[in-house]
Amino acid sequence: MSATVGFAQFEPLYAEPAANRDTMSEIAESAGQFDLLVFPELAATGYELRDVVHARNIAEPFQEGATSEWARALAVESRGAIVVGYAEKADGVAYNSCVLALPNGAVHNYRKIHLFSREKELFAPGDAPPPVIDTPAGSIGLMICFDWFFPEMARTLALQGAQIIAHPSNLVLPYCQRAMYCRSVENRVFTITANRIGTENQAGRALTFTGQSQILDPDGNTLASAPADAPRSTLVTIDPELAHNKSINEYNNLTNDRRPSLYDV
Ligand code: ACM
Repeated sequence: MSATVGFAQFEPLYAEPAANRDTMSEIAESAGQFDLLVFPELAATGYELRDVVHARNIAEPFQEGATSEWARALAVESRGAIVVGYAEKADGVAYNSCVLALPNGAVHNYRKIHLFSREKELFAPGDAPPPVIDTPAGSIGLMICFDWFFPEMARTLALQGAQIIAHPSNLVLPYCQRAMYCRSVENRVFTITANRIGTENQAGRALTFTGQSQILDPDGNTLASAPADAPRSTLVTIDPELAHNKSINEYNNLTNDRRPSLYDV
């Protein structure tokens, strides 16, 4: 089985969700036929939401919210899965979430577990384990940006059978793209990091996002990568089944060789 998967790196406009959804529709339309297209974290709103009140006001519900409905319609129409980050409103708080919308109209949600820096002032941390969803493009695990810093996340997704980790991001630290090499190799999975570009200065500090979105295979090969400061959408065709082979050599298998009784993670 093969799947055509990709990232869409762009610069969201601050607090302009409708305009950002229109931009993403245009990107998807011109991308070519895909089975999975991953957009960045908080792609609908931009990143540096002014304060917690603004975050709660601009956030949308998952069920029947504008961004999840947009993603559902786009997935059905394009016959390809969509992952996109948005601010989710639920229980009187905002979450930094992403949806995975499928061509059959199903939509899944994930709330970022590990909040980065000032996100802790704006969002509540995710309250459920990261999901793995079987799709026509393969088994897709979800994590958001700074979740990469916790190897347990990618490991948990891989142990649940993820073949592809979809990783919407707004990266500012310089390490992640290189570190994702390890996440791919140590779990033998495909990873798609969809990062944004541009600079925001809404909250008294300038943040420059590092672009360099990338797709890595289970051997850590870079199948696609984007520049640091320009929009870029790239699709590659992969065989997701390759991620089921956890064998390293005739003696070692990364799943079977784990010793959780000794390290309890
Ligand atoms: C991040 O988690 N947006 C750095």
